[in-house]
Amino acid sequence: MRLRKGKGRKTDDRPEAEETSGLAVELRGVRRQYGRGSGAVHALAGIDLALPRGTFTAVMGPSGSGKSTFLQCAAGLDRPSAGSVRLGGTEITGMRENQLTELRRSRLGFVFQAFNLLPSLTVEQNVLLPMRLAGQRQDRRRAAEVLARVGLAHKARCRPGELSGGQQQRVAIARALVTSPDVIFADEPTGALDTGTATEVLGLLRQAVDALEATVVMVTHDPAAAAWADRVLFLADGVFAGGLDRGSAEQIAARMAALTSRTSAMAGVAA
Ligand SMILES: Nc1ncnc2c1ncn2[C@@H]1O[C@H](COP(=O)(O)OP(=O)(O)OP(=O)(O)O)[C@@H](O)[C@H]1O
Ligand SMILES: [Mg+2]
Repeated sequence: MRLRKGKGRKTDDRPEAEETSGLAVELRGVRRQYGRGSGAVHALAGIDLALPRGTFTAVMGPSGSGKSTFLQCAAGLDRPSAGSVRLGGTEITGMRENQLTELRRSRLGFVFQAFNLLPSLTVEQNVLLPMRLAGQRQDRRRAAEVLARVGLAHKARCRPGELSGGQQQRVAIARALVTSPDVIFADEPTGALDTGTATEVLGLLRQAVDALEATVVMVTHDPAAAAWADRVLFLADGVFAGGLDRGSAEQIAARMAALTSRTSAMAGVAA
């Protein structure tokens, strides 16, 4: 059993039912179709998924298998064509855009491949941005705390352009952590980093799960990155095609190779 550490969830006013569901992310029958008729693309073709709080999940799959679409739908950045998405027990399907924006700002964190920092703001201002956008008091002590956590307390006054790629991604992680989000969604967070720097960034995501009880959902192409997760889910043609718990990088790579050869063989049959 995991210990709850220091998030003070009891003090917020979410209904009790949400707290007891124990699920951070839940998708039921989620479909996402682009276009109509014979040219339609079924990017997600029926996704069922339940991720408990305080877990680290990696999502892998061949290019075009629907990973980014999945992440966007799960994070309320895109709307499924059918099915339901619940975050921390809250049904987000059908929510109005302003409610969704509020939920994303207060309860979700995002880390993308390209860091997405604002170049004209300092590191500290970038970290404070989610609070500023949410109209909250900009808590500089909290910013200093999360910057210290990612080892960048001394860079608070720098601009992103003065930092290395790995340092910029660590700022993006500090920004994702600043609001103590329930779920952190990461799309290829180490895609632009060398192996050593990637390891640091993955260690921080792991720490967010183990020490802060965040839930992390990370899309990656890299079996070594996926091996940091508790569980790897494999996507193929818009559906989940199995999972692997606590797999090594080698085991994950072998599963991916089997999946890729299977999907390309099926594409050959369809052609
Ligand atoms: N805006 C869009 N309009 C039409 N089709 C789209 C759109 N976005 C994605 N698709 C299609 O949906 C499918 C899934 O795309 P998605 O971006 O989710 O794949 P992915 O697994 O993230 O791939 P990659 O590893 O290359 O990033 C692909 O066939 C893609 O061409
Ligand atoms: Mg993608």
